[in-house]
Amino acid sequence: MDFESLIDNNKLPRHIAIIMDGNGRWAKSKGRPRVMGHRAGVKTVRRITEACAKLGIEYLTLYAFSTENWKRPAFEVDALMRLLVETIHKEIKVLNKNNIRLRTIGDLDGLPARSRDAMRKAIRETASNDRMQLTLALNYSGRWEIVRAARAIAEAAREGHLTPDELDADRFASFLCTRDMPDPELLIRTSGETRLSNYLLWQLAYSEFYFTEIFWPDFMEKDLYEAIYVFQQRERRFGKTSEQLK
Ligand code: FPP
Repeated sequence: MDFESLIDNNKLPRHIAIIMDGNGRWAKSKGRPRVMGHRAGVKTVRRITEACAKLGIEYLTLYAFSTENWKRPAFEVDALMRLLVETIHKEIKVLNKNNIRLRTIGDLDGLPARSRDAMRKAIRETASNDRMQLTLALNYSGRWEIVRAARAIAEAAREGHLTPDELDADRFASFLCTRDMPDPELLIRTSGETRLSNYLLWQLAYSEFYFTEIFWPDFMEKDLYEAIYVFQQRERRFGKTSEQLK
């Protein structure tokens, strides 16, 4: 089915979050090393970023490296970090040409210096682009982010900038890495896994989840269009009844 032509451009999600999963299994299924899967995964990042920008999606947030991914074999972690630097160097021009701003969420200070510096440079050099914001979650996890926010809130309270009764959900969210982004309306996870894996725990409270069996390297534009079409058929009630929405 041609899902692209079925998409209602007036009902696009503003923000799509993706858990890019299945690089390793994709490579294994072809008898190739896991790292080849990550390399193929980068091509999908490029493809899906471009497709989102063309559609008019404002925010795309990709889970690139979690705080738990350090537990992988050292050579795979090294390869991912190197791939990140290589990709960022290559893509800055393309991002600028397409007017896409690159951001990160997560603890950049915990990355190897080369990866951190490459990211900071790319963030600086794309800062004035305003067509779409591409955010890489790097050394990120939802619990890390929430604990970090709680610490900052405690600090603000200690310094007298905030009293406990002033704290509500909006104020809390203003301490998160995503403070200046809308929450994702749609979360996509590839590869058949149906977990959140510590991704955007606060922000996904009311998001629609879309799971597909397709491994990330095989995830094509048409699969993105299908996910968006399926999202558009859902009724988002935010706690209300169906009748109340009519
Ligand atoms: C999950 O597949 C993927 C990752 C942990 C890393 C995703 C990274 C990339 C696509 C490349 C770097 C990204 C950028 C933006 C330059 P997996 O390894 O968990 O696959 P498996 O579950 O099949 O083992």
